[in-house]
Amino acid sequence: MIEKPYLHFSGISKIFTDPKGEPYPAVEGFELRVAKGEFVSIIGHSGCGKSTVLMMTAGLSEVVIGGIFLDDKLIDEAGPDRAVVFQSPSLLPWLSALDNVLLGVNRVYPHAAKETRLDLCKYYLNKVGLGKDIHKKAADLSNGMKQRVGIARAFALKPKLLLLDEPFGMLDSLTRADLQEVLLEVWNTEKITALMVTHDVDEAIFLSDRVVMMTSGPSACVGDILPISFARPRHKAQVMEQTSYYQYREHLIRFLEDGKDKKAAHGMVSSIGDGASHF
Ligand SMILES: Nc1ncnc2c1ncn2[C@@H]1O[C@H](COP(=O)(O)OP(=O)(O)OP(=O)(O)O)[C@@H](O)[C@H]1O
Ligand SMILES: [Mg+2]
Repeated sequence: MIEKPYLHFSGISKIFTDPKGEPYPAVEGFELRVAKGEFVSIIGHSGCGKSTVLMMTAGLSEVVIGGIFLDDKLIDEAGPDRAVVFQSPSLLPWLSALDNVLLGVNRVYPHAAKETRLDLCKYYLNKVGLGKDIHKKAADLSNGMKQRVGIARAFALKPKLLLLDEPFGMLDSLTRADLQEVLLEVWNTEKITALMVTHDVDEAIFLSDRVVMMTSGPSACVGDILPISFARPRHKAQVMEQTSYYQYREHLIRFLEDGKDKKAAHGMVSSIGDGASHF
């Protein structure tokens, strides 16, 4: 139990209105304490409420019951102390990689010297491996490169909290593996508190200090939490050599499989894969 959480979800609930106009309790009594500098992943079946939790944390969706506290402050709107990385990084296509990162930095640090702001952007673009491409237009970048810009932009804002919603979901598996390493490398030097939603069990294990398993909705909440004790910095090959890696993997897959059975019993499963690491 984390006594003094940096990020605290205090029994939060979200009720939507379904297409028939009836209340739909998507999330109910979600309780989680995250320590400063922790990397926490959330996994769970499609539609269980992962993005809903993330959007409430970003301040982009209202919390109906309970509250989310970051550094003892109630989150009630979006703010520069939280950076969000989505599946598609939504860059302005006519601007260069550098100008896309600079755009956010200029807004968050308007009083810093121009040179300092530029250096900050270049530093992170370099960190994500785009040092040679900073002047390329976003429209001319591959999807993987665009997401590198998205990661650089998020870190350059120096947020208290990094929120990631399936950041590599649109990428092929090789690029995805590359970007997991990039994210971990940058994160390792900064140790920004991070909350990431993913469907990928291996990604969750590789990146996280703890993996939070959400129950299937309606009224989704925290079903189980798995601490991942690999030392940092981590390297994929080394991590995968450890027997605990496969125990972690089995634990997570078993949770998701059990949830699938429950969903099937309620007639809620349509087409979920068969034992793969994506759910
Ligand atoms: N604006 C909304 N209005 C009504 N219902 C919504 C709204 N947003 C989400 N929902 C419902 O809330 C539930 C949780 O949605 P959410 O997008 O958080 O799931 P998710 O776990 O992120 O799914 P996925 O893994 O597919 O991204 C779903 O049943 C969804 O239909
Ligand atoms: Mg989602």
